[in-house]
Amino acid sequence: MEFITYEVEGQIGIITINRPKALNALNSAVLDELDKTLDAVDQEAIRCLILTGAGEKSFVAGADIGEMSTLTKAEGEAFGKKGNDVFRKLETFPIPVIAAVNGFALGGGCEISMSCDIRICSENAVFGQPEVGLGITPGFGGTQRLARIVGTGKAKEMIYGARNIKAEEAYRIGLVNNVYPTEELMPAAKKLASTIARNAPIAVRNCKRAINEGLQVDMDQAIVIEEKLFGNCFETYDQKEGMTAFLEKRKVEAFLNK
Ligand code: CAA
Repeated sequence: MEFITYEVEGQIGIITINRPKALNALNSAVLDELDKTLDAVDQEAIRCLILTGAGEKSFVAGADIGEMSTLTKAEGEAFGKKGNDVFRKLETFPIPVIAAVNGFALGGGCEISMSCDIRICSENAVFGQPEVGLGITPGFGGTQRLARIVGTGKAKEMIYGARNIKAEEAYRIGLVNNVYPTEELMPAAKKLASTIARNAPIAVRNCKRAINEGLQVDMDQAIVIEEKLFGNCFETYDQKEGMTAFLEKRKVEAFLNK
C-alpha cells in the first residue's frame, strides 16, 4: 500500500489515509487501496475501526482536483461511482467506524467522514462541500448524506454557498459528536473505540444495521428490521453470557463474538 496504512491495536483497527503531499486528497489509487484495506479487515477480531488522515493539518482535502480536471462526462460519472462504492462499503461495513477528523475535511473528505458511524474532530478541523466553486456537485455522497445528518436547510446553505465551517459550528449543527485539542483527538477516538469494543460485537453490529437500514424505510418496516436483528442476538454465546452475568451479579467474563 502506498497511500493507506492499517494498524491493529488490540481489537481496534486504525486506517490512516496517507498522502500528505496532497493533504490526503483522494485519487483513484487511494480509493482502490481503501477498498482493499476494508476487504482485508479481520472481521472476527476487530470490533471498531478508526479512520483518520496523516499529519495534523488535513484529514482529507477532497477528491483529487488534478485527476478530475480532464474527465469527460462519462468518466466523471464513473469516478463518482468509484468513490460512492467505497464509501458505501464503509457505511455498511459490519464493524462500527469512527472518523477522527484531524484538520481539513473538504469535499470528498467531508463525504468520507459522513460515511462513518461517528465523527469526532480536532479544534483545527474545517468541514465543507466546496464543489460548486469548482464547477461540480459534491460527488461522493455529499448531496445525500449532509442533508440527512444536519438537515436540508443547513446542507443547502453549505453546499450552494460552498461555505466551509469550523469545528465549533460542525459541533453545533450535529455534524460531529465532539471537538478535542489536536493532541487529544486520537486518544479520544481510541477511548471511544475501546468502549464500543467492550460490548457484545454481534449486538453492536446488529444495532448498526438496524439504525442504518431502518432510516431508509418507513416506521412500520423499520420496526420489523429491528425485531429481526433483536431476535438474531438470542441463542448467541454473548447474549447468554451478558444476561447470566447480570443475573449472577458479576461482570461479563468476555464477549466472544459468537
Ligand atoms: N486535490 C488535489 N490536490 C490537492 C487537493 C485536492 N483536493 N487539496 C490540496 N491539494 C494539494 C495542493 O494542490 C498542494 O499541492 P502542491 O504543493 O503540489 O501545490 C498541496 O495539496 C497543499 O495544498 P495548499 O498549498 O493549497 O495548502 P493550503 O494550506 O494553502 O490550503 C486547502 C489548504 C484550503 C485545503 C486547499 O488545499 C484547498 O482548498 N484544497 C482543495 C479543497 C477542495 O476544494 N476540495 C474538494 C475537492 S472536489 C471533491 O471532493 C469532489 C467530490 O465530492 C467527489
